[in-house]
Amino acid sequence: MPETQLSKRRLVILISGRGSNMQALAEACRNEGWPADIAAVIASRPDAGGLEWAAAQGIPTAALYHKDYASRDAFDAALAAEIDRYAPDYVILAGFMRVLTPGFVNHYAGRLVNIHPSLLPAFPGLHTHAQALATGVRVHGCTVHFVTPVLDHGPIIAQGCVPVLAGDTPDLLANRVLAVEHQAFPAAVRWLAEGRVTLTTDHRVDVQGDPARLFTWSPAA
Ligand code: GRF
Repeated sequence: MPETQLSKRRLVILISGRGSNMQALAEACRNEGWPADIAAVIASRPDAGGLEWAAAQGIPTAALYHKDYASRDAFDAALAAEIDRYAPDYVILAGFMRVLTPGFVNHYAGRLVNIHPSLLPAFPGLHTHAQALATGVRVHGCTVHFVTPVLDHGPIIAQGCVPVLAGDTPDLLANRVLAVEHQAFPAAVRWLAEGRVTLTTDHRVDVQGDPARLFTWSPAA
């Protein structure tokens, strides 16, 4: 096996739905010289659309359904056990729609990364595109960040921004944001896998080499 193969970082990706961010990461991993591979895709529900796509690519998949567990702690313990079978270097939340317990988050401290569809700290939680339209902001976007026990909060690795346009609906705006999600997420994961991302003592992120960490939308994209 070539040296580069040996040194690839292992990713476990968690999804809940269609998995377009997971697909963007999987496609990036196929690029020559990419420093990471997807060890498994695990869903929070058996009907998550992205599972079928991942399985068709030959990626190991699993699904855990929260209704099969007596408590949030029991679900998170089972999820961690499943993840740890694959010995990942990083656990990537790509549209994973469950709040995780502090025990779970702390187990993966510094190795757990999320993408959120807003320019954090604005609009944590659900329905971010509707929130953006309701408040009248002229710019919206996405944030890739380390996960801490506080929901949609944590040191920011990269952001993507898009304009809010006349006539936008939540769906139109979501599609525009998704285009920058698919740029920002693979870039941030690549920096992580290359070992270039460090946390500063004041809980911010440094990326060695100072790459541009803001991704922007253009009409042609
Ligand atoms: C994305 O907008 C992501 O930011 C959010 O949920 C959505 C998931 O989309 N957390 P997909 O499943 O990756 O297509």
